[in-house]
Amino acid sequence: MSKRTRASGERPAARIDPLGEPSEMVAIIDFGSQYTQLIARRIRELGVYSEILMPDVSANILARRGPAAIILSGGPASVHHPDSPTCDPDIFELDVPVLGICYGMQLMARTLGGRVLGADAAEYGHTSIEVRDRSGLFHGLADRLAVWMSHGDRVEELPPGFRATATSPGSPVAAMADPDRRRYGLQFHPEVVHTPDGTEMLANFLFRIAGCRGDWTMASFVEAEVAGLRETVGDDRVLCAMSGGVDSSVLACLLDRAIGDRLQCVFVDNGLLRKGEASEVADTFREHHKLNLECIDASDEFLRALRGVHSPERKRRIIGETFIRVFERAVGELGEFKYLAQGTLYPDVVESHSAFGGPSAVIKTHHNVGGLPERIGFDLIEPFRHLFKDEVRKVGEELGLPRRVIWRHPFPGPGLAVRVIGPVTRKKLRLLREADAVFIDELRQAGLYDEVWQAFAVLLSGKAVGVMGDERTYAGVVALRAVTSRDGMTADWARLPHEAVGRAANRIMNEVDGVNRVVYDISSKPPGTIEWE
Ligand code: XMP
Repeated sequence: MSKRTRASGERPAARIDPLGEPSEMVAIIDFGSQYTQLIARRIRELGVYSEILMPDVSANILARRGPAAIILSGGPASVHHPDSPTCDPDIFELDVPVLGICYGMQLMARTLGGRVLGADAAEYGHTSIEVRDRSGLFHGLADRLAVWMSHGDRVEELPPGFRATATSPGSPVAAMADPDRRRYGLQFHPEVVHTPDGTEMLANFLFRIAGCRGDWTMASFVEAEVAGLRETVGDDRVLCAMSGGVDSSVLACLLDRAIGDRLQCVFVDNGLLRKGEASEVADTFREHHKLNLECIDASDEFLRALRGVHSPERKRRIIGETFIRVFERAVGELGEFKYLAQGTLYPDVVESHSAFGGPSAVIKTHHNVGGLPERIGFDLIEPFRHLFKDEVRKVGEELGLPRRVIWRHPFPGPGLAVRVIGPVTRKKLRLLREADAVFIDELRQAGLYDEVWQAFAVLLSGKAVGVMGDERTYAGVVALRAVTSRDGMTADWARLPHEAVGRAANRIMNEVDGVNRVVYDISSKPPGTIEWE
């Protein structure tokens, strides 16, 4: 076993994002709005790299990052509340364009000497604004625009140098501007779809006001990242645990392009994967993409450790621990590595750093692969630390990954173990794999696979009575689950066409031995969860 693998208990020495500074960056200061990440995404969709920063960032530090523009996000607080978040007032002294959105506008107005009126001025939902000044943010737009409001406070008196550029029924200042100093405010949310011209307003801010070029694309990201990875890694070797999911697959291909043979991928077949998945990963990445990939069949070890276990949390713990044991053993045989690559995404980073992260940060912890980095003393390489999921998919497209891999539904680390209710056996897994494959096949055939966030079959723990020919049967029950969701944090059951569900159910009862009943799960999350265990 290598020295590094033996260093169990050691914390990783560093977390590295090899991306150099993109040439153009917009800083978004987060005051806790549910829409902050959406602002970041909209800006990036316009081809400008954006980053979310905490409100306590100082003007000095911000200036050193050299942002092309600054956006102050909305937030749930009132500027009148003594604990409401503020930002360093010197930020308004920087020679950088600033756009305040909702709370961000009120904060800017108050800091620069205006007056903000409290609670009874609230406006929520759809409304329209009258544009007074069609230069600046409203360039090229109509006089009357539909917008989405969600605010308690409003600006009553403009700060010196500003003028109102739009009004709404509830806000004499629905938008404000001080074009000389390039300070702008919107009382409503341009980042949400309910403000149809919102993207145009953001584009006006970026390109007409801040003079951005908008050349940040996934192709440029890949190019910069490949160069950064080469420089960071040098002559060392990198280890990458592949799961078959989108993030680790794209990660492996990106690293492969950057460092080729100095990347070693490891794929552990825990015996809890979907039908054909293990061989598909081997085929796709070893045969087709020629990755340096070690596939380890550890299904016996996992199933032995899970024998007789009922509790979902114990299942997760056992799977996590077994994974680490198998992985460490395998890595020990593969030589020395300096780095471990992980597919950490931006929302995880933002949530875990944000003062307003809320419950999401807590819920996610149990979803990470069993504490791997903490156990093994590698430096971590996380090239996607600043990307959203859809951007990772675009990187995958750039790298030529198959569509099937890029658009695969999320799959939990503990796999089918949390979809067999109660103790897991090979027999139950076989049955579930068949049922799941039929359901997915029907969804693909009906063109519904890409319409849902996740779809899968679950094998329930009891049996049900049925009739087949002249005989009564007593056999397994399969639940079908399909949900729509934006990020997995909340979800609704998918209103699949009855015919599609009916066809899947019929085929499962006819084709899968040991099933005589199929039910469709119509629980939303909350109060349910997406998985059954
Ligand atoms: P729940 O069931 O909590 O799932 O609504 C939300 C999302 O997380 C996935 N999930 C997991 N992913 N390890 C994972 O890697 C886990 O233990 C785990 N449990 C749930 C689930 O499939 C859904 O996408």
